[in-house]
Amino acid sequence: MRSPSAGLVEDSSSARFRPVRDGTPLGATQPVGGLQMSQANANHPDPNAGTGPDLPGQGRHQPVMVGEVVSILSPVPAGIMVDATVGDGGHAAAMLEANTRLFLLGLDRDPAAIVSASRRLERYRDRVALEQLSFDQLAVAACPLAAAKGLPVTAVLFDLGVRSDQLDDAQRGFSYRHDGPLDMRMDSTQALTAADVVNGWSESELASLFAANGEGRFCHRLARAVVAARPLSSTTELAQVVASALPASVRREPGHPARRVFQAVRVAVNSELEMLRPALGEALSLLAPGGRCVVLSYHSGEDRIVKAVFKEAETGGCSCPPKLPCHCGAQRRARLLFRSSRRPSALEVESNPRASSARMRALERLGANESRLGS
Ligand SMILES: C[S@@+](CC[C@H](N)C(=O)[O-])C[C@H]1O[C@@H](n2cnc3c(N)ncnc32)[C@H](O)[C@@H]1O
Repeated sequence: MRSPSAGLVEDSSSARFRPVRDGTPLGATQPVGGLQMSQANANHPDPNAGTGPDLPGQGRHQPVMVGEVVSILSPVPAGIMVDATVGDGGHAAAMLEANTRLFLLGLDRDPAAIVSASRRLERYRDRVALEQLSFDQLAVAACPLAAAKGLPVTAVLFDLGVRSDQLDDAQRGFSYRHDGPLDMRMDSTQALTAADVVNGWSESELASLFAANGEGRFCHRLARAVVAARPLSSTTELAQVVASALPASVRREPGHPARRVFQAVRVAVNSELEMLRPALGEALSLLAPGGRCVVLSYHSGEDRIVKAVFKEAETGGCSCPPKLPCHCGAQRRARLLFRSSRRPSALEVESNPRASSARMRALERLGANESRLGS
C-alpha cells in the first residue's frame, strides 16, 4: 500500500533570493522585492495565524501562535535559526525582530513562498538566506551555512501544512471551495499530482488513505465512489463525489464534507508524513546545546509523529521501568519545554479560524554533561 496519511484535517521570474550554499545572505548585492510587512506589523506581530482547515478567504497568511513562538525561541543563544517552512515569512519576521543575534535560514518547498518571504524579509536582508528546498534536506542547507558563518544552529521552527495563499489559489488545486485542477503539489516541479492519486490508486489504497485521515467507517464507501466516478479532473468534481457518497446526516455535520478527503490526498501527494520524522531527527541533531525546536502541527497524524520524536529525544529511548534509576545507558538529548501540546487561544481562533487545529510542541537540546538520565 502506498503511503497512507493520518489524522484530521508569484511570478517565479521575480524571485530575487539567493541560494545559501556559499553562506551569502539574502540581497547582499541583489535587491529583493518590495517589503510587504508594515513597520507596525514588524514590531508588533499579529498574534494570530493560519494553516489548518480549509476555511473561506482569510486574505494574507497570518502566522499561528506567533507570540508563543517568539517567547519560546527568543531566549536561544546567538546563532542560526532555521525556519523550515518559511512560507510568507510571518514567523521569521517576528523572530528577526525579537532576537537581533539570530541569522535566519528560511526553507520552503514552494517557489512562490520564497518570493513572498524574500519581499517580506527585505528589511532584514543582511541576516537572511532563503532556499527553495524541502525540509527533509534541512542539513544540506544548514550545515554549509553554519560552517561558512562559524555559527551554531540554535533554533528550528516547523510550521507544518499549507499557507493561506496556497489554499486560496484555485489553480493550485488544494481547496474544495474553488474549482481548479486536481494538483495539490507544494513543489510544482514534482511529478505526482492529486489527479494521479485520485485516478490511479486502487480502491483499497484509497480506502486506507481515507481511513488514516479520519474517515473511519466511510472509507470504503468513499473509495468506491471515487473509483466509480473516474476519471476526475477538478476539485469541484472530487468534492461533489465525496459529498454525495456520504450519508445526509454526515453531510449536515459542521465543516465541509470533503475536507478530510482533500487533506488525505494533499498529505499523500506531498509525502508530508514520511518526511516529517527524518526532518525532525535532522533538526535535533543540528541543534547546539541550549538550542530550541518548535513544531506547529495541524492534524493528529503530524502531531503523533512530533510527540513520538520528542519523547524519544527526551528519554533517549530508555527501556528501564518508570520511576526506577536508568541502567540501560540511554542518553537523553533534549528536555520538553512543556509536556502536553499547546493550543491557540480562543481569541486567536476567533480572528483566524485557520488556527483552530494548531498544536504546538517545543524542546530544548541538552549539552553532553546533561544527557545522563536522572541528571
Ligand atoms: C503554514 S505555512 C508556513 C507559514 C509561515 N510560518 C509564515 O509565517 O508565513 C507552511 C509552509 O510550509 C511549506 N512546506 C510544506 N511542506 C514542506 C516541506 N516538506 N519542506 C519545506 N516546506 C514545506 C508550504 O509550502 C508552506 O509555505
